[in-house]
Amino acid sequence: MPDTRENPRPLSIAWLTTYPGVREYEPLQPYSWYGIGGRARYFIDLPDDAALPELVGRLNADQVPYLVIGAATNTLFAADDLPGLTIKLSTTGISIDGDAVSVAAGTLMPKLAAEMARAGRAGLEFAAGVPGTVGGSVFGNAGAFGGEVKDRLLRAEVVDPQGKRHALAAADCVFTYRDSVFKQSRERWVITAATFATTTEPPENVRARLLEVQKHRRATQPIEQRSLGSTFKNPPGDSAGRLIDACGLKGLRIGGAQVSPKHANFIVNLGGASADDVLALMAEMRDRVQERFGIELEPEIRVIGRAPRG
Ligand code: EPU
Repeated sequence: MPDTRENPRPLSIAWLTTYPGVREYEPLQPYSWYGIGGRARYFIDLPDDAALPELVGRLNADQVPYLVIGAATNTLFAADDLPGLTIKLSTTGISIDGDAVSVAAGTLMPKLAAEMARAGRAGLEFAAGVPGTVGGSVFGNAGAFGGEVKDRLLRAEVVDPQGKRHALAAADCVFTYRDSVFKQSRERWVITAATFATTTEPPENVRARLLEVQKHRRATQPIEQRSLGSTFKNPPGDSAGRLIDACGLKGLRIGGAQVSPKHANFIVNLGGASADDVLALMAEMRDRVQERFGIELEPEIRVIGRAPRG
Protein backbone atom coordinates (compact mmCIF):
# COMPACT_ATOMS: atom_id res chain seq x y z
CA MET A 1 0.00 0.00 0.00
CA PRO A 2 1.45 3.42 -0.91
CA ASP A 3 2.73 5.38 2.07
CA THR A 4 0.53 8.43 2.53
CA ARG A 5 3.16 10.06 4.77
CA GLU A 6 5.21 10.71 1.63
CA ASN A 7 2.34 12.73 0.25
CA PRO A 8 2.14 16.28 1.62
CA ARG A 9 -0.97 17.05 -0.44
CA PRO A 10 -4.39 16.38 1.09
CA LEU A 11 -6.04 13.29 -0.36
CA SER A 12 -8.72 14.04 -2.90
CA ILE A 13 -11.10 11.24 -2.16
CA ALA A 14 -14.49 12.95 -2.24
CA TRP A 15 -15.39 11.13 -5.49
CA LEU A 16 -14.96 7.77 -3.72
CA THR A 17 -18.00 8.50 -1.54
CA THR A 18 -20.26 8.44 -4.59
CA TYR A 19 -18.40 5.84 -6.67
CA PRO A 20 -20.82 2.97 -7.51
CA GLY A 21 -20.45 0.08 -5.05
CA VAL A 22 -18.10 1.86 -2.60
CA ARG A 23 -18.98 1.41 1.06
CA GLU A 24 -17.58 3.44 3.95
CA TYR A 25 -16.16 2.14 7.25
CA GLU A 26 -16.59 -1.46 6.17
CA PRO A 27 -15.61 -4.08 8.81
CA LEU A 28 -12.88 -6.31 7.36
CA GLN A 29 -13.39 -9.26 9.65
CA PRO A 30 -15.95 -10.95 7.34
CA TYR A 31 -13.41 -10.80 4.49
CA SER A 32 -10.62 -12.27 6.62
CA TRP A 33 -10.22 -16.03 6.55
CA TYR A 34 -8.46 -15.59 9.90
CA GLY A 35 -11.46 -13.76 11.36
CA ILE A 36 -9.40 -10.67 12.31
CA GLY A 37 -9.86 -7.18 10.93
CA GLY A 38 -10.43 -3.51 11.66
CA ARG A 39 -12.35 -1.28 9.30
CA ALA A 40 -11.67 -0.12 5.75
CA ARG A 41 -12.30 3.61 5.32
CA TYR A 42 -13.56 2.83 1.79
CA PHE A 43 -14.29 -0.63 0.44
CA ILE A 44 -15.48 -2.12 -2.84
CA ASP A 45 -16.16 -5.70 -3.87
CA LEU A 46 -15.57 -6.25 -7.59
CA PRO A 47 -17.08 -9.43 -9.06
CA ASP A 48 -16.13 -8.04 -12.48
CA ASP A 49 -12.89 -6.17 -13.29
CA ALA A 50 -14.14 -4.12 -16.29
CA ALA A 51 -14.05 -0.87 -14.31
CA LEU A 52 -10.74 -1.67 -12.59
CA PRO A 53 -8.29 0.04 -15.02
CA GLU A 54 -10.13 3.36 -14.81
CA LEU A 55 -10.47 3.04 -11.03
CA VAL A 56 -6.78 2.21 -10.49
CA GLY A 57 -5.69 5.05 -12.79
CA ARG A 58 -7.82 7.49 -10.85
CA LEU A 59 -6.65 6.29 -7.42
CA ASN A 60 -3.03 6.77 -8.47
CA ALA A 61 -3.64 10.14 -10.11
CA ASP A 62 -5.21 11.35 -6.84
CA GLN A 63 -2.59 9.59 -4.70
CA VAL A 64 -5.21 7.62 -2.80
CA PRO A 65 -3.76 4.55 -1.07
CA TYR A 66 -5.37 1.26 -2.01
CA LEU A 67 -5.06 -2.38 -1.11
CA VAL A 68 -6.22 -5.30 -3.25
CA ILE A 69 -7.34 -8.44 -1.44
CA GLY A 70 -8.53 -11.85 -2.53
CA ALA A 71 -9.57 -14.39 0.09
CA ALA A 72 -7.21 -12.85 2.69
CA THR A 73 -5.94 -16.30 3.69
CA ASN A 74 -2.37 -14.99 4.00
CA THR A 75 -3.12 -11.44 5.13
CA LEU A 76 -3.39 -10.11 8.68
CA PHE A 77 -5.45 -6.92 8.90
CA ALA A 78 -3.61 -5.17 11.74
CA ALA A 79 -4.87 -1.60 11.37
CA ASP A 80 -7.89 -0.38 13.35
CA ASP A 81 -8.78 1.90 10.47
CA LEU A 82 -7.28 1.21 7.09
CA PRO A 83 -6.97 4.41 5.02
CA GLY A 84 -7.91 4.67 1.35
CA LEU A 85 -9.75 2.06 -0.68
CA THR A 86 -9.71 -1.68 -0.04
CA ILE A 87 -10.58 -3.56 -3.24
CA LYS A 88 -11.80 -7.10 -2.91
CA LEU A 89 -11.34 -8.80 -6.26
CA SER A 90 -13.94 -11.57 -6.50
CA THR A 91 -13.71 -12.30 -10.20
CA THR A 92 -14.00 -16.00 -11.01
CA GLY A 93 -13.77 -18.09 -14.15
CA ILE A 94 -11.59 -20.74 -15.76
CA SER A 95 -11.14 -21.22 -19.50
CA ILE A 96 -9.14 -23.98 -21.16
CA ASP A 97 -7.49 -23.45 -24.53
CA GLY A 98 -5.44 -26.53 -25.44
CA ASP A 99 -2.68 -26.81 -22.82
CA ALA A 100 -3.18 -23.24 -21.57
CA VAL A 101 -5.58 -22.58 -18.72
CA SER A 102 -6.63 -18.99 -18.00
CA VAL A 103 -8.06 -18.17 -14.59
CA ALA A 104 -9.55 -14.99 -13.11
CA ALA A 105 -7.69 -13.60 -10.07
CA GLY A 106 -10.46 -14.24 -7.54
CA THR A 107 -10.74 -17.96 -8.30
CA LEU A 108 -9.70 -20.15 -5.38
CA MET A 109 -6.67 -22.37 -6.03
CA PRO A 110 -8.35 -25.56 -4.66
CA LYS A 111 -11.27 -24.89 -7.03
CA LEU A 112 -8.78 -24.60 -9.93
CA ALA A 113 -7.15 -27.90 -8.88
CA ALA A 114 -10.53 -29.66 -8.75
CA GLU A 115 -11.56 -28.31 -12.17
CA MET A 116 -8.24 -29.46 -13.67
CA ALA A 117 -8.76 -32.97 -12.30
CA ARG A 118 -12.22 -33.05 -13.87
CA ALA A 119 -10.85 -31.83 -17.22
CA GLY A 120 -7.84 -34.18 -17.22
CA ARG A 121 -5.31 -31.33 -17.16
CA ALA A 122 -2.17 -32.10 -15.14
CA GLY A 123 0.41 -29.85 -13.47
CA LEU A 124 -1.64 -27.78 -11.06
CA GLU A 125 -2.29 -30.45 -8.41
CA PHE A 126 -0.25 -28.44 -5.89
CA ALA A 127 -3.01 -25.79 -6.03
CA ALA A 128 -5.16 -28.16 -3.92
CA GLY A 129 -2.78 -27.36 -1.04
CA VAL A 130 -2.85 -23.57 -1.47
CA PRO A 131 -5.84 -22.10 0.37
CA GLY A 132 -5.94 -18.76 -1.44
CA THR A 133 -6.94 -17.07 -4.67
CA VAL A 134 -5.07 -17.18 -7.97
CA GLY A 135 -4.24 -13.46 -7.71
CA GLY A 136 -2.81 -13.83 -4.22
CA SER A 137 -0.89 -16.92 -5.29
CA VAL A 138 0.78 -15.10 -8.19
CA PHE A 139 1.55 -12.14 -5.88
CA GLY A 140 3.31 -14.41 -3.37
CA ASN A 141 4.49 -17.18 -5.74
CA ALA A 142 2.53 -19.59 -3.58
CA GLY A 143 3.51 -23.22 -3.48
CA ALA A 144 2.91 -26.49 -1.76
CA PHE A 145 4.06 -30.09 -1.98
CA GLY A 146 6.75 -29.62 -4.60
CA GLY A 147 4.92 -27.23 -6.90
CA GLU A 148 4.77 -23.46 -7.05
CA VAL A 149 3.20 -20.82 -9.28
CA LYS A 150 6.48 -20.03 -11.04
CA ASP A 151 6.79 -23.59 -12.39
CA ARG A 152 3.50 -23.35 -14.29
CA LEU A 153 2.71 -19.70 -14.98
CA LEU A 154 2.83 -18.67 -18.66
CA ARG A 155 1.66 -15.11 -18.16
CA ALA A 156 -0.12 -12.82 -15.73
CA GLU A 157 -2.71 -10.24 -16.77
CA VAL A 158 -2.15 -7.04 -14.82
CA VAL A 159 -3.31 -3.43 -14.55
CA ASP A 160 -0.51 -0.90 -14.05
CA PRO A 161 -0.78 2.22 -11.84
CA GLN A 162 -1.77 4.32 -14.87
CA GLY A 163 -4.70 1.99 -15.44
CA LYS A 164 -3.30 0.19 -18.49
CA ARG A 165 -3.72 -3.54 -18.95
CA HIS A 166 -0.64 -5.66 -19.76
CA ALA A 167 0.18 -9.35 -20.14
CA LEU A 168 3.43 -10.07 -18.28
CA ALA A 169 5.50 -13.13 -19.16
CA ALA A 170 6.49 -15.31 -16.21
CA ALA A 171 10.10 -14.03 -16.46
CA ASP A 172 8.86 -10.46 -15.94
CA CYS A 173 7.21 -11.52 -12.67
CA VAL A 174 10.72 -12.21 -11.21
CA PHE A 175 9.59 -15.13 -9.08
CA THR A 176 11.74 -16.46 -6.27
CA TYR A 177 10.73 -18.46 -3.18
CA ARG A 178 7.43 -16.95 -1.96
CA ASP A 179 8.31 -13.70 -3.72
CA SER A 180 7.60 -11.76 -6.92
CA VAL A 181 8.12 -8.37 -8.53
CA PHE A 182 4.61 -7.44 -7.32
CA LYS A 183 5.60 -8.00 -3.70
CA GLN A 184 8.99 -6.30 -4.10
CA SER A 185 8.33 -3.17 -6.14
CA ARG A 186 5.04 -3.24 -8.01
CA GLU A 187 2.65 -3.06 -5.09
CA ARG A 188 0.38 -0.67 -6.99
CA TRP A 189 -0.06 -3.11 -9.86
CA VAL A 190 -3.14 -5.33 -9.79
CA ILE A 191 -3.07 -8.95 -10.96
CA THR A 192 -6.38 -9.70 -12.70
CA ALA A 193 -5.82 -13.16 -14.23
CA ALA A 194 -3.20 -15.83 -14.81
CA THR A 195 -2.55 -18.36 -17.57
CA PHE A 196 -0.93 -21.66 -16.61
CA ALA A 197 0.64 -24.45 -18.68
CA THR A 198 -0.86 -27.91 -18.21
CA THR A 199 -0.47 -31.32 -19.85
CA THR A 200 -3.05 -33.95 -20.79
CA GLU A 201 -3.54 -36.92 -18.46
CA PRO A 202 -6.42 -39.22 -17.57
CA PRO A 203 -8.64 -37.42 -15.01
CA GLU A 204 -8.26 -40.30 -12.50
CA ASN A 205 -4.45 -39.87 -12.43
CA VAL A 206 -4.72 -36.12 -11.80
CA ARG A 207 -7.37 -36.69 -9.16
CA ALA A 208 -5.26 -39.31 -7.36
CA ARG A 209 -2.37 -36.84 -6.99
CA LEU A 210 -4.72 -34.10 -5.88
CA LEU A 211 -6.07 -36.38 -3.16
CA GLU A 212 -2.50 -37.14 -2.05
CA VAL A 213 -1.84 -33.40 -1.65
CA GLN A 214 -5.01 -33.02 0.42
CA LYS A 215 -4.23 -36.09 2.54
CA HIS A 216 -0.69 -34.93 3.31
CA ARG A 217 -1.94 -31.44 4.13
CA ARG A 218 -4.59 -32.81 6.51
CA ALA A 219 -1.97 -34.98 8.22
CA THR A 220 0.62 -32.24 8.74
CA GLN A 221 -1.24 -28.91 8.96
CA PRO A 222 -4.03 -27.63 11.26
CA ILE A 223 -6.49 -27.13 8.39
CA GLU A 224 -9.52 -27.57 10.63
CA GLN A 225 -8.60 -24.34 12.46
CA ARG A 226 -8.29 -20.75 11.28
CA SER A 227 -4.71 -19.80 10.43
CA LEU A 228 -2.79 -17.79 7.83
CA GLY A 229 -0.79 -20.83 6.68
CA SER A 230 2.95 -20.69 7.23
CA THR A 231 3.74 -17.70 9.42
CA PHE A 232 7.41 -17.43 8.45
CA LYS A 233 9.33 -18.32 5.31
CA ASN A 234 11.68 -21.25 5.56
CA PRO A 235 15.28 -19.99 5.99
CA PRO A 236 17.71 -21.36 3.38
CA GLY A 237 18.28 -25.08 3.94
CA ASP A 238 16.06 -25.31 7.02
CA SER A 239 12.45 -25.24 8.09
CA ALA A 240 10.82 -22.52 10.20
CA GLY A 241 8.46 -25.18 11.63
CA ARG A 242 11.34 -27.36 12.76
CA LEU A 243 13.20 -24.43 14.37
CA ILE A 244 10.13 -23.10 16.24
CA ASP A 245 9.27 -26.65 17.34
CA ALA A 246 12.84 -27.18 18.61
CA CYS A 247 12.41 -24.07 20.81
CA GLY A 248 9.52 -25.87 22.51
CA LEU A 249 6.93 -23.32 21.43
CA LYS A 250 4.14 -25.62 20.22
CA GLY A 251 0.97 -24.81 22.11
CA LEU A 252 2.25 -21.41 23.35
CA ARG A 253 -0.67 -19.02 23.63
CA ILE A 254 -1.04 -15.25 23.71
CA GLY A 255 -4.67 -14.19 24.05
CA GLY A 256 -6.65 -16.07 21.41
CA ALA A 257 -3.59 -16.86 19.25
CA GLN A 258 -1.72 -20.14 19.65
CA VAL A 259 1.32 -21.79 18.06
CA SER A 260 -0.38 -24.82 16.55
CA PRO A 261 0.36 -28.03 18.45
CA LYS A 262 0.23 -29.77 15.06
CA HIS A 263 2.64 -27.57 13.06
CA ALA A 264 4.83 -25.01 14.81
CA ASN A 265 4.91 -22.55 11.88
CA PHE A 266 1.15 -22.05 12.02
CA ILE A 267 -0.57 -19.62 14.40
CA VAL A 268 -4.16 -20.66 14.93
CA ASN A 269 -6.98 -18.38 16.03
CA LEU A 270 -8.63 -20.16 18.95
CA GLY A 271 -11.45 -17.62 18.78
CA GLY A 272 -11.33 -13.92 19.48
CA ALA A 273 -7.62 -13.51 18.69
CA SER A 274 -6.62 -9.91 17.99
CA ALA A 275 -3.97 -8.71 15.55
CA ASP A 276 -1.94 -7.71 18.65
CA ASP A 277 -2.07 -11.30 19.96
CA VAL A 278 -0.80 -12.64 16.63
CA LEU A 279 1.95 -10.02 16.33
CA ALA A 280 3.09 -10.61 19.92
CA LEU A 281 3.26 -14.36 19.31
CA MET A 282 5.19 -13.82 16.07
CA ALA A 283 7.70 -11.60 17.91
CA GLU A 284 8.13 -14.29 20.58
CA MET A 285 8.68 -17.05 17.98
CA ARG A 286 11.16 -14.91 16.08
CA ASP A 287 13.09 -13.89 19.23
CA ARG A 288 13.32 -17.43 20.58
CA VAL A 289 14.59 -18.82 17.25
CA GLN A 290 17.08 -15.94 17.00
CA GLU A 291 18.39 -16.58 20.55
CA ARG A 292 18.69 -20.31 20.16
CA PHE A 293 19.82 -20.69 16.54
CA GLY A 294 21.02 -17.22 15.49
CA ILE A 295 18.60 -17.35 12.55
CA GLU A 296 16.30 -14.44 11.79
CA LEU A 297 12.94 -15.66 10.57
CA GLU A 298 11.25 -13.57 7.91
CA PRO A 299 7.44 -13.31 7.93
CA GLU A 300 5.65 -15.09 5.13
CA ILE A 301 2.25 -13.66 5.97
CA ARG A 302 1.35 -10.17 4.79
CA VAL A 303 0.74 -7.76 7.67
CA ILE A 304 -1.34 -4.74 6.67
CA GLY A 305 -1.22 -1.52 8.65
CA ARG A 306 1.54 -2.38 11.10
CA ALA A 307 5.15 -3.57 11.07
CA PRO A 308 5.26 -7.34 11.70
CA ARG A 309 7.04 -6.85 15.05
CA GLY A 310 4.15 -4.80 16.36
N1 EPU B 1 8.62 -29.85 11.30
C1 EPU B 1 8.86 -30.02 12.65
N2 EPU B 1 7.95 -29.53 13.55
C2 EPU B 1 6.83 -28.90 13.14
C3 EPU B 1 6.59 -28.71 11.77
C4 EPU B 1 7.50 -29.21 10.85
O1 EPU B 1 9.87 -30.59 13.04
O2 EPU B 1 6.07 -28.47 14.01
C5 EPU B 1 9.58 -30.41 10.34
C6 EPU B 1 8.92 -31.52 9.54
O3 EPU B 1 9.03 -32.76 10.20
C7 EPU B 1 9.71 -31.50 8.24
C8 EPU B 1 10.11 -30.03 8.09
O4 EPU B 1 9.93 -29.43 9.37
O5 EPU B 1 10.89 -32.26 8.35
C9 EPU B 1 9.27 -29.31 7.05
O6 EPU B 1 7.89 -29.32 7.43
P1 EPU B 1 6.69 -29.47 6.37
O7 EPU B 1 6.94 -30.64 5.48
O8 EPU B 1 5.43 -29.42 7.12
O9 EPU B 1 6.81 -28.25 5.42
P2 EPU B 1 7.08 -26.74 5.74
O10 EPU B 1 8.44 -26.42 5.23
O11 EPU B 1 6.79 -26.40 7.14
C10 EPU B 1 6.19 -25.86 3.43
C11 EPU B 1 5.44 -24.62 3.03
C12 EPU B 1 3.94 -24.86 3.15
C13 EPU B 1 3.53 -26.06 2.32
C14 EPU B 1 4.33 -27.27 2.83
C15 EPU B 1 4.05 -28.53 2.06
C16 EPU B 1 6.82 -22.68 3.60
C17 EPU B 1 7.07 -21.59 4.57
N3 EPU B 1 5.81 -23.51 3.90
O12 EPU B 1 5.97 -26.03 4.83
O13 EPU B 1 3.29 -23.71 2.62
O14 EPU B 1 2.14 -26.31 2.39
O15 EPU B 1 5.74 -26.98 2.70
O16 EPU B 1 4.68 -28.49 0.83
O17 EPU B 1 7.51 -22.76 2.60
C18 EPU B 1 2.32 -21.62 3.20
O18 EPU B 1 3.17 -21.11 2.48
O19 EPU B 1 1.45 -20.94 3.80
C19 EPU B 1 2.32 -23.06 3.38
C20 EPU B 1 1.47 -23.68 4.18
